[in-house]
This record gives sequence, structure tokens and C-alpha cells, in this order.
Amino acid sequence: MLTRIKMTTPLVEMDGDEMTRILWSMIKEKLIIPFVDLKTVYFDLGLEFRDKTDDNVTIEAAEAIKKYGVGVKCATITPNAERVEEYNLKSMWKSPNGTIRAILDGTVFREPIILKNIKPFVRTWDKPIIIARHAYGDVYSAVEIKVNEKGTGELVFTGETGNESKVIKKFDGPGVLQAMHNTDQSIRSFAKACFTYALDKKMDLWFATKDTISKIYDHRFKDIFLEVFENEYKKSFEESNIEFFYTLIDDVVARIIRGNGGVLWACKNYDGDVMSDMVANAFGSLAMMTSVLVSPDGHYEYEAAHGTVQRHYYKHLKGQKTSTNPVATLFAWTGALKKRGQLDENNKLTEFAEKLEKACLDLIEEGTMTNDLAVLCDSADVIILNTEDFLDQLKIKLESVM
Ligand SMILES: NC(=O)c1ccc[n+]([C@@H]2O[C@H](COP(=O)([O-])OP(=O)(O)OC[C@H]3O[C@@H](n4cnc5c(N)ncnc54)[C@H](O)[C@@H]3O)[C@@H](O)[C@H]2O)c1
Repeated sequence: MLTRIKMTTPLVEMDGDEMTRILWSMIKEKLIIPFVDLKTVYFDLGLEFRDKTDDNVTIEAAEAIKKYGVGVKCATITPNAERVEEYNLKSMWKSPNGTIRAILDGTVFREPIILKNIKPFVRTWDKPIIIARHAYGDVYSAVEIKVNEKGTGELVFTGETGNESKVIKKFDGPGVLQAMHNTDQSIRSFAKACFTYALDKKMDLWFATKDTISKIYDHRFKDIFLEVFENEYKKSFEESNIEFFYTLIDDVVARIIRGNGGVLWACKNYDGDVMSDMVANAFGSLAMMTSVLVSPDGHYEYEAAHGTVQRHYYKHLKGQKTSTNPVATLFAWTGALKKRGQLDENNKLTEFAEKLEKACLDLIEEGTMTNDLAVLCDSADVIILNTEDFLDQLKIKLESVM
């Protein structure tokens, strides 16, 4: 009989929706609770309970991450009009990830899980590319106007000591207008989070904007990054033998495609949104992409980058077995346990999480996997399992190394 590993500080556990909620309980039951005396502070972010609590549960979960330092989150539904009807919601609640990000003021880092038997579509990539997305402002909180007639669009700032205005466009007829913003404080937090994470991972950091075109807006990002680097991180980067490299967004895209990976790529909000899906798919599967939100105060929230896998859930509800890939959700748990282990100097916990990750990669590399990976795999000699059987096999493998 194994003695279960003790934890000193609880993890903030955020349950979620649909198929990932099913994966969540299977992972805990089969792979964590038998080995770890799991301590968590539990929040149910499933859509029904968010609705019942007027979404206060999401705010409470984010506050708990601030209190305890490390959280692990299951994928959740961001309601749209269809979901409001499906779940008979009181309101079209905001994205929980958006709410948590706003409270923690964090940066999201997305990292692919690399397997020997699944080759990326870009042949030269042999190391992971981590995308850091600035999850604040720009087009995501822009205001827009549909112009229907002849007139003038203006950008106006009303300050405490003065005003400024600029003509955007004199319209001869219909068109569209958009205005967006960012703040020095948020850009600085983003820069610090990226420099800290690069040091943590011992990886070069690349950052790019279009400052040659956007001479005030994008240039502000460039200036702040360079200033923070020179003043606070240059020495540690030299000591760690890593580099900070600034260039234009089109140049960085060309370099990423030609390179062999192993870079932390800091992206503005929109670039990060687009490029993280490109990188995830080019490495193979969205189901193999992990995500961690890091706040400037050093709080961490781990999750899978994918959604709730709705289509599989409807099959599951009909009693059918699905081959949903649990790896990114599992790595959210191991990421959180490793970080908790590091912070609490609990080596046994960190080692357990590392063994679980290795057992999972070994199992897949030996040819046992879920369907989404089988279609990408080099070898024709693979065993395709449904989720439950895959997790059972993984448990057997883990037991053999514990
Ligand atoms: N982080 C989050 O909480 C998050 C992120 C994205 C979407 N969502 C939510 O998830 C729901 C579904 O959204 P979606 O369909 O756009 O995204 P999704 O990631 O659930 O699915 C996108 C596609 O990838 C496949 N896929 C994703 N993960 C998989 C896995 N683990 N195994 C096998 N196949 C997998 C799906 O079958 C689907 O074809 C929506 O309600 C959305 O709001 C949540």
C-alpha cells in the first residue's frame, strides 16, 4: 500500500463544464487521489453554478488564487445566445477566463506538449514554442462606430490639464471607425511577466510589434519592454546566457517558421490570440497545448488551452464512449502540483507530478493514445483507446514507477 503524498498548502481547484468536467473527475479519481492526499479549495465554475451565484463564484475563485498562489482550472463555457437558451441563464455571463485574468492582471503562456512520434507540420521545429499573450486591451476592449453618412471621425482625449483631438477620417459616405487603448501599467506588467518566465524556463525571449507603422501605440510597447529589460533584467539574462530580441511582427513570423523552436514569443493581444492557435495546430493538436496565467505578483493559474469539447459531451450524454484527449487537462494538474511543490519545498509532490507527466508521454510514445493523436502519428502501429481506458493504462504505468 502506497503512502499518499502530503500537501501543506491547498490548490485552488476550479471545476468546469461538459466533457472536460468529466475528464476532470476521472483524472482526479484515477491518477491523483490514489497517490496524493489532495488538498484543494474547490470552486464550481460550471455554468449552472455560475448562473446560480450571479457569477460571484468566478470572482471568489480568482480572489482565492491571490490568497493561496496556485490554481488549476477546468475548461468552462463562455455563454453566447445559444447557451443562454440551452441553460436557461439569467444573463449572458462573461468569460470566466476574462474575469480571472482581469482580477489577477496576468499574462497567459501557452506551451505545446511535444511527442517523439508526432511530428510538427513545420519540419524544423524540434523544441517547443511558448506563446505569451498580453491579455489586456487593444481590439478586445475597443469601441466601434458604424458610420452611415458623410461626416468626420475624431479621436478625442479629455484630460485633467488639457484636451487633445485628432481627425481620423473625413468620410464621404458609409464606413467604420474603431478606437482602442492600452495602459503603461498593463504593458509593464506584461513585460515583467515575460522576462520572469523566460528566466524561469531559461529560454530566449522574442517580442515584436509593428512600431514602424504604429509610431505611438506600438512604439510604446517597444519602449516599455526595452526600458524594463535594461533596468531590471539585462544582468540576469546575461547570467542565464539567454537573449532578449526585439523585432517587427512580420520578421518574427518569418524567423519562427524557419527556426527550430525553443523560444518564448511575447505577443500583443491579437497576435497572441491568432498565433497561439497557429502554433498549437502546427505542433499537432489543440488537445496537447497547456496554458498558464502568471500574475505580476507571482500567482499561477494552470489550465488546458482547449475548450469543453462540446461535441464529445453530447455523445457522452447519449451513453457513448468518447476518445477525448485528457493530456492537456492532466498537464494542468501536474503543472499546478509541481508549482505548489516548488513553492512549499515539497519535493515529493514535484517528483510525483514529473513522474505522472513522464508516464503519460511514455505511454503515448510507445503507441497507446486517443483518436485525435492517432491520426497525426507517424506509426501505423498504434492502439487507440477511449478516454477511460487510456487513463486506466496510464494509472498502471504510473503505479509501476511509483
Ligand atoms: N479555456 C476555456 O475555458 C475555453 C477555451 C475555448 C473554448 N471554451 C468553451 O468551450 C466550448 C466549446 O468550444 P470550441 O468547440 O470552440 O472549442 P474546443 O476546444 O472545445 O473544440 C475545438 C475542436 O477541437 C477538438 N478538441 C478540443 N479539445 C479536444 C480534446 N481534448 N480531445 C479531442 N478533441 C479535442 C474538438 O472536438 C473540436 O473539434 C465553448 O462553449 C467555449 O466557450 C472554453
